[in-house]
Amino acid sequence: METHVVDHPLVEAKLTTLRDERTESSTFRTLADELVTLLAYEATRGVRVEDVTVQTPVAAAHGVALARPRPLVVPILRAGLGMLEGMMRLLPTAEVGFLGMVRDEETLRASTYAERLPADLSGRQCYVLDPMLATGGTLAAAISFLVERGADDITAICLLAAPEGCANLEQGLAHVDVPVRIVTAAMDEKLNEVGYIVPGLGDAGDRLYGVA
Ligand code: URA
Repeated sequence: METHVVDHPLVEAKLTTLRDERTESSTFRTLADELVTLLAYEATRGVRVEDVTVQTPVAAAHGVALARPRPLVVPILRAGLGMLEGMMRLLPTAEVGFLGMVRDEETLRASTYAERLPADLSGRQCYVLDPMLATGGTLAAAISFLVERGADDITAICLLAAPEGCANLEQGLAHVDVPVRIVTAAMDEKLNEVGYIVPGLGDAGDRLYGVA
């Protein structure tokens, strides 16, 4: 597993405003959307393309187009939905699948409560959207699910990550033999005793959508 922290002043400035507890939901949603687009630019560096030739008004030009099968973007419900538009802005022809994950508070294992994904993901590049890589349990379960369906290249885009979550994820994915990449705006200091990222930005779902 490879972790890439995007180092860019615009990313840092947007993240700083997201962290600020005074930032209201509407601004939070707009900034999260913009931040995801910046992260997506880095995250799609390895997107598969094929050679094409187009005719300019002057001459033939060689270039590329996104290869088939099309990439699959998978927001993890609920908070991952707040990242979808920002991702689709750069990959408008991608397909979108949905995964709802919930954590059993006794076993602490994440399980799937809803899914809307193609049955066969063979040969698909997948982009998983999950704003907070905290304990890593949800992301590990989501990535394992996609790999079991045949996905052969997975990039997770997270607004923030915690070192404990990255270590757990690495351990949880030890059996996975396809490339997995994490792209995030920052690696924060730690998790607190209730599993929140410190300093973090609080509950991403609540800040995007209000408390429900
Ligand atoms: N989920 C959140 O929304 N925030 C955290 O800090 C950790 C998990």
